[in-house]
Amino acid sequence: MRKTITDIQQMKVRGEPIAMLTAYDATIAALFDAAGVPMLLVGDSLGDNVLGFSSTVPVTIEDMVRHTAAVARGAQSALIVADMPFLTYATLEMAVAAARRLMQEGGAQAVKLEGGQAMVPIVRRLVECGVPVMGHLGYTPQSVHLFGKARVQGRSAAAARRMIEDALALEAAGAFALVLELVPAQLAAAITERLRIPTIGIGAGPHCDGQVQVFTDILGLRDDFKPRHTRRFAELAPLIRSAVAAYVAAVGERSFPTAEHSSRMDEAELREALE
Ligand code: KIV
Ligand code: NA
Repeated sequence: MRKTITDIQQMKVRGEPIAMLTAYDATIAALFDAAGVPMLLVGDSLGDNVLGFSSTVPVTIEDMVRHTAAVARGAQSALIVADMPFLTYATLEMAVAAARRLMQEGGAQAVKLEGGQAMVPIVRRLVECGVPVMGHLGYTPQSVHLFGKARVQGRSAAAARRMIEDALALEAAGAFALVLELVPAQLAAAITERLRIPTIGIGAGPHCDGQVQVFTDILGLRDDFKPRHTRRFAELAPLIRSAVAAYVAAVGERSFPTAEHSSRMDEAELREALE
């Protein structure tokens, strides 16, 4: 049975931490689903982690629909949240159209969008239409060209107060959960305490109701990149490099493939073919 937003919200009620992870394809989604991840994010971090861009800005709705559908096919149990791409929710009409594609064509059960009080009418409209919405405050990567670079948000009293107001406004608008990215731990704790909906932190300290990580970070797939907020639970990059080097060497010295990896035909049929 597929998890629902109620299942996720009940985890906060029970005080059970929510371990969310990104996924972008069916094979990885099936592995994470089997490992018990209750909620998968098809993040627009697809841009940096799969498509080879240096930000999430170039990611399109077509990209997101395609990869969301792959994740939905791969994962049987996890709730699937898909990111609304940059500039696909600038108006109510656009937001409804983008959410329609992510849910009907992509098979997501919820969408995520970035921003605070300015997004309240969008969140309210989507929820009225039956679309569960996850909010996203703190550092919001789609605004990288405004921010300049990834940095912790909400450090001053004024910025912290604004973030608390944004969080409360998103909850009041009907958001079912809220991502806090690069937020001081004490502020994330204060927001978590003030909200009934779960907070999901990334670089937001240990007091959020859940955590979300980009899977390439926790598995060490990009060893030129280690943000402070991540822990490598595996070092896959060197493992993959040495496995692939072994494959290249085996092909090079003709030790692979062997008879066990090959098929044969009847010699008479072969002779006839070569006549
Ligand atoms: O796209 C993404 O991976 C995200 C998470 C970092 C929250 O939005
Ligand atoms: Na994202």
